[in-house]
Amino acid sequence: MSEHYDLVIRGGTVIDGTRAPRFRADVGVRGDRIAAIGDLSGHRAERDLDASGKIVAPGFIDAHTHDDRLMLSAPDMAPKASQGVTTVIAGNCGVSLAPLVLGQRAAPPPLDLIGDTSSYRYPSFRAFVEELEAKPAATNGALLVGHSTLRVAVMDELDRTANATEISRMREMVSEALDAGAIGCSTGLYYEPASAATTEEVIEVCRPLTARQALYCTHMRDEGDRVMESLDETFRIGKALDVPVVVSHHKVAGRPNFGRMRETLPFIAERMKDQKIGLDCYPYCASSTILSWSRTWPAMKVLVTWSKPHPEFNGMDLEEVAAKMGLAKEAAVQKLLPAGAIYFSMDENDVQRVLAFEHSMVGSDGLPHDAAPHPRLWGTFPRVLGHYSRGLGLFPLETAVWKMSGLTAATFGLKDRGVLQAGAFADLCVFDAGTVDEAATFARPIQPAKGIEAVIVNGRITWRDGKATGERPGRVLRRTAARDRT
Ligand code: ZN
Ligand code: CU
Repeated sequence: MSEHYDLVIRGGTVIDGTRAPRFRADVGVRGDRIAAIGDLSGHRAERDLDASGKIVAPGFIDAHTHDDRLMLSAPDMAPKASQGVTTVIAGNCGVSLAPLVLGQRAAPPPLDLIGDTSSYRYPSFRAFVEELEAKPAATNGALLVGHSTLRVAVMDELDRTANATEISRMREMVSEALDAGAIGCSTGLYYEPASAATTEEVIEVCRPLTARQALYCTHMRDEGDRVMESLDETFRIGKALDVPVVVSHHKVAGRPNFGRMRETLPFIAERMKDQKIGLDCYPYCASSTILSWSRTWPAMKVLVTWSKPHPEFNGMDLEEVAAKMGLAKEAAVQKLLPAGAIYFSMDENDVQRVLAFEHSMVGSDGLPHDAAPHPRLWGTFPRVLGHYSRGLGLFPLETAVWKMSGLTAATFGLKDRGVLQAGAFADLCVFDAGTVDEAATFARPIQPAKGIEAVIVNGRITWRDGKATGERPGRVLRRTAARDRT
């Protein structure tokens, strides 16, 4: 009997997102789901997509993004769709677009990385979710509520720990966000708006996570000299709340700390025996965030990604900017603020260690509104597939795909996503294993990747022939906690 499909991807090699070895198969899609995998040569389809010689994989899940506003302001999601990404985890590093109404106030750094005064206009998390659902993007989004956003919303001054009233207000806001569909809470204890928060404040604010088995994701207090203490704090919070934790963009920064992945990774592996821990990383030895002198001096090289008062220096090396201004570097930094930067401050060997670590997911941490962004925004996933898997042979392609799909969906509790199986959602990426790679560079960071042939979200083609198709089938994804998964 001939079956009928909406779409059949024919002649490709399937890598299914579970780390299983690849196999030749056609993939049949009906509605928003994968209906069949196998030899579908006798079956008709509304639309055929030829994938001969190509890999057919689950669409990639970007484990760490700042795409809260991008989903609304640039719903084609080109920086992500062009890489084969079909779902983004937004609201990271303590910064979410909701719930916060800034009114006349300026967005304090790092909240200014994702929006200005007028972007922060959501009195509730639900208001943000409803807007995203009314105006869908080309990718799915799973959302975290940010602790720094909550602090800015309820506290008059941020350089102290929250009092009991403020804690209970923030806790109510976390509850509201979870009810509205957030999958967890993020912190950015490294950043000024939250660095005065104690471990106890975080635990008390995050209490509502426990009953829902929602996630705690963190840009830790210190990713340099005190990285071990920061890991310990993160695991303590996870234990106190009895929830899974995710260590965001795990790194050890600063030359004196080069090589210390040899300490952190075994420590993480050890603690994983006792509690649920996930981690993500990006495939570059440079980080990117707001510009400041305290971050500048330990770095080997600094590039300016944006500057409000001096946009003419966007994309330039800070050395060169300082020379042009006729100032010392520290004084030049002060003139550029508010601004963003790329910091070269990691050891390539450590980057390879964390990428190859069995439990690491891939997340871009891309900053989509920067004028001269870090190339991770457009290049993360193809760079892992091309440079690190095919080029350096750091791990097989099946492992690379798993780190950007199956592992990520399991960690974040995204049911029927991240695996290419009959019955799962039809979130797919067709790519050429021989050519896939980043095109973005530090000098020319805004470039769609090479070798991404087609991207499908909920059964609809969002990226094809190097361009967005205009389809916007993205949904706001809820978390299915392990204990209620069937
Ligand atoms: Zn971060
Ligand atoms: Cu981040």
